[in-house]
Order: sequence, then structure tokens, then C-alpha cells
Amino acid sequence: MDNTAQALLDWYDGHARDLPWRVKGGARPDPYRVWLSEVMLQQTTTAAVAPYFNKFVARWPTVDALAAAPESEVMAAWAGLGYYSRARNLVACARDVAARGGFPENEAELRKLPGLGPYTAAAIAAIAFGQRAVVVDANVERVVARLLAIEEPLPGVRKAIRAAADAITPENRAGDFAQAMMDLGATICTARDAKCLLCPLSSQCRGRATGDPLRLPVKAAK
Ligand code: ADE
Repeated sequence: MDNTAQALLDWYDGHARDLPWRVKGGARPDPYRVWLSEVMLQQTTTAAVAPYFNKFVARWPTVDALAAAPESEVMAAWAGLGYYSRARNLVACARDVAARGGFPENEAELRKLPGLGPYTAAAIAAIAFGQRAVVVDANVERVVARLLAIEEPLPGVRKAIRAAADAITPENRAGDFAQAMMDLGATICTARDAKCLLCPLSSQCRGRATGDPLRLPVKAAK
């Protein structure tokens, strides 16, 4: 495994955030819980999502239970999380998955489900099914841009950042790797701060070597 992935996974083994949709000790999490959490986490912080996630899985413990729920009840339970098209897609997706007898296990099939874009499909494939999928959200973009001191501006450089993320994604533990990148971006390599002294990648970080990692990623002038 590449050095970056190894250093990051070693860090994750000791520092993963304790989030309700995660399971400890290398076991595979339930795809239903992974899917539900990833849909809730689109455009919403982990702190805001956690209580909703707990409420949903207590009330609808399986995708079949959620599929059987009246849409109006799911919409009411979603109230406060925002972006309500997600809740409508959630119900449609649960019904599709229940009808086909479970979640598909690869990215291409996951993409066909309601509400699942490239990020969410890759996250579920990697986290729930152990597939090697490249999971890129804004946190991952920032970490990669700093790690490699990518100076070209977003959004144009997005493809190159994805290729760089692909190059460091390990064959095994791609789901842990993705979540480790997200945790690093959320807690250490944040948009406003770079706590390089705490970062497991600091010795290999080219952005840090430039002396000013916070200016990365560069954004194109509007
Ligand atoms: N943001 C989106 N998905 C996440 C996950 N699985 N862990 C932490 N933050 C996330």
C-alpha cells in the first residue's frame, strides 16, 4: 500500500470519530445504515445528522421497514434537516431496494437508484461493500489539493484531484480510507485551519512545505 494510505489508515485506527453509523473493529456496516447516513450527510454536518439518523433507525430499523412507511411520515420525521427532495428520494430509493431484495453492491448499479449521485454511490460501495471506489467530497478535495500542493483552481482542477485521489486509494479498506480522509478534512485539515502538528500526513504534505497550506485549494474568481 502507498505510504499516504498506510499513514492515514494507521491514524484512523486510533482517531476515527465515533459516529452512530460506524461500526468498530473492521466489521462491515449494514448497507441500509450506510446509505441512510450518506444521504443525510449530503449538505449537512455530522453533528446535525446524528440525532436524525438515530431517530430514523430506531423507527425504521431496515430498508424494508422504511419502504413500507407512508411518505408523509418520513417527510415529517425529516423536518428540520432541509433539502426535502432528499427525503422524497429516500422513500423512492427504499422502495426500489426493497423490491429488488437489497442494495446492489457496485457503484454503477447504486448510481441508478433515486437520489444517489457519484459521491454517494462510491461511498456506499466502499464503506458498505468493501469495493475499491474513489470517494471525493469537498473535504477530500481540500486534503488532496493541500497534500499535493495542487495550484490550479477549482472547479477546473476537479478531474485532476479525483485522479490524484484514485492514485492513493488502497485496494483494501477503501471505505476506511475514504472516511479517514473525511475525518482529516473535518477535524484537522479544515477550510479555515490546518493543524499540521496533529496531522498524520504532515511529513509528506507538499502544501505544508509551501508554508501556506490554507490558500489551497485555490478557487477560480467568480
Ligand atoms: N461525511 C459524509 N459521509 C461521511 C462519513 N461516512 N463519515 C464522516 N463524515 C462524512
